[in-house]
Amino acid sequence: MKNLVLAAMLVVFASSATLAADTVVLKAKNGDISFNHKAHSDNLKDCTICHGPGKPGKIELDKEKGHALCKDCHTKSAQGPTKCGDCHKKG
Ligand code: HEC
Ligand code: HEC
Ligand code: HEC
Repeated sequence: MKNLVLAAMLVVFASSATLAADTVVLKAKNGDISFNHKAHSDNLKDCTICHGPGKPGKIELDKEKGHALCKDCHTKSAQGPTKCGDCHKKG
């Protein structure tokens, strides 16, 4: 019972801390990348994987950092897109 109450409190806390849109769009010259931020947050259950320590906010990404963060996890977990055109969509 105590655990249930604690879990409920954590859910309320987590949702109030999440101000990001459900879908995040990252600009890229070769086609913007759109991904489900909510699904990633729910699945990975750890904001710091992408945001690093501290309060989640803006992330400085470029080709190298973006691929190391996003593409490497998809490759390692064999889930999520790894082909250029599956992330970079021409608008
Ligand atoms: C798969 C990686 C990933 C995970 C996991 C993730 N985020 Fe994000 N989040 C991003 C990216 C990428 C952006 C866009 C950053 C930018 O525009 O600089 C973003 C944007 C945000 C923003 C808006 C920042 C701004 O100032 O525009 C907030 C707030 C945020 N995330 C909170 C969270 C929280 C809270 C969690 C955990 C529950 C979380 N994120 C988990 C990748 C992630
Ligand atoms: C730690 C692992 C991990 C990281 C980091 C991660 N992803 Fe994913 N991603 C996944 C998994 C697992 C799936 C498949 C989940 C599903 O399809 O429900 C996925 C699915 C996707 C999809 C297809 C479904 C959707 O969300 O639209 C896109 C696009 C995507 N990821 C983009 C990104 C981008 C862009 C980043 C970096 C900002 C990123 N991912 C970071 C694990 C990760
Ligand atoms: C998992 C998603 C994903 C896949 C797959 C992917 N990229 Fe990216 N790519 C990104 C992210 C995220 C960024 C950083 C965007 C940003 O600056 O915010 C990026 C950035 C880039 C940039 C720099 C764009 C700019 O405006 O400076 C180039 C070029 C690029 N990718 C080419 C490729 C090529 C070529 C492939 C296939 C071999 C590929 N990408 C596959 C997610 C992906």
